[in-house]
Parts: sequence; structure tokens; C-alpha cells
Amino acid sequence: MERKRNYIYPDKESLLAAFVCEFSSTLKEYAEEGRQLHIALSGGSTSLGIFRQLAEQTSREEWSHVSIYWGDERCVPPDHPESNYGNAREILLDPLGLDKDLIHRIRGEEEPPGEAERYGKELLKYLPGENGFPVFDWIWLGLGSDGHTASIFPNEIELWTSGSPCVIGHHPVSAQSRISLTGGVLNAARRVTFICSGDEKAGVIREIFMKEGNYNQYPAFYVDPVSGNLEWYMDHNAAKLL
Ligand code: 6PG
Repeated sequence: MERKRNYIYPDKESLLAAFVCEFSSTLKEYAEEGRQLHIALSGGSTSLGIFRQLAEQTSREEWSHVSIYWGDERCVPPDHPESNYGNAREILLDPLGLDKDLIHRIRGEEEPPGEAERYGKELLKYLPGENGFPVFDWIWLGLGSDGHTASIFPNEIELWTSGSPCVIGHHPVSAQSRISLTGGVLNAARRVTFICSGDEKAGVIREIFMKEGNYNQYPAFYVDPVSGNLEWYMDHNAAKLL
């Protein structure tokens, strides 16, 4: 059953608050059922706002039912300001004192080829597999104004259809190496949620939703989980051209 839903909020604050509220109710659901929730966090700046609110509004106990992974990582050490893990650790993981055994980070400091392979194997060790791809319960995604998601960029869109769970991408401007989940993993997930804020995203969101312009060159356009469970959380500015 297709369950594509779009949620539009007046501003970034109410967008993040609504998403954090949805996360908390999902957590409760899993905790009551005694199930472990395997989620992949997104990187980038929008996520930082989510982590801040989660650190204020959730507790270590609630997170004991959550195994944490990342959708992508910059190939930098954890204490580097651009480390997705490093930022999450500082804002959320350490302040809540989350159980380190439940945190499965991408080691941005390691050699990318070996780390992409290692992380792919780690995912298949802890997560159920389908057609060779690990199946997450929930993947959070950001969206670049160039149509990238995770760290798959339009100029490397061929990485989307890689048969591996993880690949090495490169930022089109800085050439920074990134490790990213592939399309096969994103579309195998039971639930995928885009969280998008700001009018710099409005143009690409319209192209993707309306299949206009260069939509078919945008990796984000190909996010279409087999579960049909895809959500777009947007603030007014991001959704203003819809
Ligand atoms: C990253 C991301 C990336 C990000 C988007 C949106 O590591 O950069 O995972 O996909 O989510 O670029 O980033 P903003 O939230 O900063 O707009």
C-alpha cells in the first residue's frame, strides 16, 4: 500500500518540532512492542536542528531501543567540524549519554574504499537483508539544492544503482570524498523521510514533485522505497513552489 505523505509547516522551528514529535511517538511504539528501531541519520545542517530538539525532548531510556547508523559521512576524522558523526555526538549522543554499542558510525578517518566495504558488511551483520541490501526501519534524508541526497550527487548518479550497500562519492565543488548508502539501501528501507527547510530547496523540490526541468538527473528523485512509505517534511519556504 502506497503511503506517500507530504507535511508542510509554516517555519523551520515548527517543522523540526513536528518531526521530533513523530520520532518520539515512533520510539514509544517500538519500545511498547519491545522492538529495536534501526535508523540512519542524515548529515548536513538541517539535521543539527533536529538533534538539538531531540537532546532536549528525549531521554537515554527512550533511545535504548534505537540502533543508530548514518546515511552518509564525510571522509574526515570524528573531531573535524564537518564530521556528521562528530556533530551528532556533540549535540545528541554524548549529552544523552547514549549506549555506544548501539552507535554504528561510518569511520570517516579510514581509507574510503576499505571503510565503504566494512560499513556495508556491518550493516548486513546487524540488519535484515533483502536482495543483498540491508533493510533499515527508518532512513532520514536531507536534500541538496542540486538534487543530491545522502552523498550521491547528480554528477555521479551512476553510484545510485551500485550493487553495493555503500559507495564513495565526491562533493562536486570541494571534491571531498564521502561514503554514502546507495539507492538499493534507501529504497529497501521500511520508511524514508526527507526533512527539507529553506527556499533554496524550493526549486529542486518543485522539479522533483512535478517532474519538470532536470528532475531525472537528481538522485533524490529516485528515492522510492519498495514499502511505499515515503514522507516529505517541509517548511513553507521549501514547499513554496508546489
Ligand atoms: C551531508 C548530507 C546531505 C545533506 C544535504 C542537505 O552529509 O551533507 O547527508 O545529503 O543532508 O546536503 O543539507 P542541509 O540540511 O545542510 O541543507
